Amino acid sequence: MAELAGVSVRTLHHYDEIGLVHPSARTASGYRAYSPDDVERLREVLAYRRLGFGLREVADLVDDPNTDAVTHLHRLRGLLVEQRDRAAATVTAIDRELEARAMGIRTTPEEQLKVFGARLYEAIGSAYPATRRTEPRIAARIWEALGDARTVLNVGAGTGSYEPQDREVTAVEPSAVMRAQRPAGAAPCVAASAERLPFADQSFDAAMAVSTVHHWPDPIAGLRELKRVARRVVVFTYDASTTGWLQRFWLTRDYLPEFADLLVGWPSLADMAHAIGGRAEPVLIPWDCADGFFEAHWRRPEAYLDEHVRRAVSVWTRVGPQAEQRAVNMLRDDLSSGRWAECNRDLVALDAAELGLRLLVA
Ligand SMILES: C[S@@+](CC[C@H](N)C(=O)[O-])C[C@H]1O[C@@H](n2cnc3c(N)ncnc32)[C@H](O)[C@@H]1O
Repeated sequence: MAELAGVSVRTLHHYDEIGLVHPSARTASGYRAYSPDDVERLREVLAYRRLGFGLREVADLVDDPNTDAVTHLHRLRGLLVEQRDRAAATVTAIDRELEARAMGIRTTPEEQLKVFGARLYEAIGSAYPATRRTEPRIAARIWEALGDARTVLNVGAGTGSYEPQDREVTAVEPSAVMRAQRPAGAAPCVAASAERLPFADQSFDAAMAVSTVHHWPDPIAGLRELKRVARRVVVFTYDASTTGWLQRFWLTRDYLPEFADLLVGWPSLADMAHAIGGRAEPVLIPWDCADGFFEAHWRRPEAYLDEHVRRAVSVWTRVGPQAEQRAVNMLRDDLSSGRWAECNRDLVALDAAELGLRLLVA
């Protein structure tokens, strides 16, 4: 067991002694015998340990009777993705400092320390307002779905792009960089995360979450929180579960297949809808979409060659610089050779495209 799990026999004995992983049987010669359930528990313990949790915290997590194996896997996955994003953000911050040093600019102590605490939006958030803004046709759908709600909670609010002006809005946003970029006069903003909303049950008429669920370490827990604090829930998100999603969009199909890696283990649309007890409606993306999210420029391919467009979309940082450069170089070549136009000639006639974006309404 020690060999399979990549830990020492001493570690297993210690886990047994402190009651963390207690093998259910002993062989006739006195060896510890691990049942499939023991192995599952050991796997969870080791995964949480590698994420940096202390032994006591791990014991609390694995002993929680309300958390089954699948929920543990979802949680572990979310935490690992967060860790990976944080590493990507740290690389971005280090690159920025190297660039500054190469130009003879000394970074401040605050900037130097930021490298180690970098979370994705702390590193990429300052590039956001360049191309990210309210798309009025999508906003109209969201506001209609809010119905007659007077008080609205906007979770993962960012710079406040889709906040309705005619209601009493409270925003929730964990990134200080994003909070700092909210325009003067924007709704009050609380520093918190979706998975743990600091509000009592049913304290808002409605809760909304726009282009943010894919950043939450535990999307299902966050969606349940939205449902807990509000009577109505409206979520603008992406359907990663439809068969052939990769083929829907030429950018991921022909240039950036690495996008698939970002979706592994992502909850299905059905699971997300279920978490809020709601239904899903397709949202077509207009050809001239004003909000520069990943799919927005589906009929304006040259836009993806623009560094500003890419830096305002987390996908490009998350796939890493190698995949990004390869995709951009290939697209540039295909645009100049006419190959892109040839392969995508049907798009010219479309005013709006179905690229998997969905509104969940409960
Ligand atoms: C793509 S931006 C969307 C911002 C805004 N809703 C919009 O539509 O412009 C994603 C936002 O989700 C936030 N976020 C990341 N993790 C979060 C979490 N666990 N809970 C709430 N928001 C989170 C990020 O900091 C970022 O501001």
